[in-house]
Amino acid sequence: MTYDRSQRRQTEEELRRLGHTHAVLSRCNRSLARALDERALLTAFCANLVEEEGYGFAWVGYAGEGRGALLRLAAHAGQGDAAFAAAVLACANAGDRRSACRVACEVGAPVILRDLSVRSALAPWADTAIGQGYRAMIALPLRADGAAFGNFSIFADTPDVFDPPEVALLAELADDLAFGIQTVRTRDAQAQAVRRLRNDAEREARGHLAATLHDGVGQTMQALNLGLKQARALAEREETVPVALLDQLIDEAGAALRELRAVSCELRPLFLERLSLLDAIRHQCNETAQRTGISIQVSAADCSFTLDDQVKEQCFLAFREALSNAVRHAAASRIDVLLRVRMNDRLILAIGDNGVGFDTHRTGADPAGLGLCMIQERAAAVLGRSCVRSSPSRGTIVRICVPLTKDTILCP
Ligand SMILES: Nc1ncnc2c1ncn2[C@@H]1O[C@H](COP(=O)(O)OP(=O)(O)OP(=O)(O)O)[C@@H](O)[C@H]1O
Ligand SMILES: [Mg+2]
Repeated sequence: MTYDRSQRRQTEEELRRLGHTHAVLSRCNRSLARALDERALLTAFCANLVEEEGYGFAWVGYAGEGRGALLRLAAHAGQGDAAFAAAVLACANAGDRRSACRVACEVGAPVILRDLSVRSALAPWADTAIGQGYRAMIALPLRADGAAFGNFSIFADTPDVFDPPEVALLAELADDLAFGIQTVRTRDAQAQAVRRLRNDAEREARGHLAATLHDGVGQTMQALNLGLKQARALAEREETVPVALLDQLIDEAGAALRELRAVSCELRPLFLERLSLLDAIRHQCNETAQRTGISIQVSAADCSFTLDDQVKEQCFLAFREALSNAVRHAAASRIDVLLRVRMNDRLILAIGDNGVGFDTHRTGADPAGLGLCMIQERAAAVLGRSCVRSSPSRGTIVRICVPLTKDTILCP
């Protein structure tokens, strides 16, 4: 009977602990998931430990390069605040002292000071901490790729609070925080790369536009100008202006007009506003087939959907780049374009050619071309995916998949 009661108490205690652990983890992970940037992430994390979990003080420090490197304060929260954090940091960084925070970084494992009133070389700041009312401390490493890049420390006002289950929980939290920091950094680096790409693409587009206007419309207008001067000289001498000369001038004016239309259409395909995606694709394919002589087939299935304007524009521009690549690089005799809906909630757009193909791995590293990256970026901008399948002399297929509904999540 006694045995049963004590066993039940033990089970209840374990359940309570498990519940507590789960609650702490999910509260802290919520602050990780919501963070918009690294500073906000660290601040919310420390504040959560102090305000919700009742610890006295929490702080995060980043280590410099190399063994024994100094720590830099990244975020803190709790009683004593900035002055206490600065005092702990100054002590931790002073000379070659092996304080708990620096040792946790060096060895990549938690360092626990169960009772600060027991003197330890690992706690050169113990008097300051005790003065603030703290009695125990834990320093946990923040790890990525097998190495510690920082430290996450907590001060508590009761000795012995950092028992094995609490340490296990905090170690898990430290790993989650380290993962959150890495995720935010990767996301920021990706956003920066996308911004750079967009700037490069805009610069490239402006250069292309300037060259098209200069070499195309500019030359045609010059020829038109010369012809008009010639016609005027004839008229001045009251001679008849030959019909052939007038026809030539009309042709040149027509060509200039067509070139201008093509340039403005490239800048913003106005026809997209009045055509469905399928009709816009057909229109572009007809125009390209006529201009290049390449046979271009468009096939479509289940295309009775209505697309958001942004999705339509991004899909069309991605398709146009894939088509332009097939025309410019593939030396293809045939291009196939396929548009269809899959599983009722995603749109598949594929552009295939029977041309020379290329080594996709080689091109991935080639920073010169922007088109393939832009296809990927355009698909991602509308929460979709794109992939390119190609190999030398076996043609190329570009496949774009975008969600038709907000709830659709595409697997990578
Ligand atoms: N359909 C294709 N057939 C053969 N090679 C292709 C095809 N699509 C792309 N490539 C190869 O991949 C390279 C990169 O294409 P990408 O569209 O990124 O750049 P680009 O077309 O060279 O330049 P940009 O698109 O910036 O004007 C091309 O230069 C070409 O070598
Ligand atoms: Mg291209």
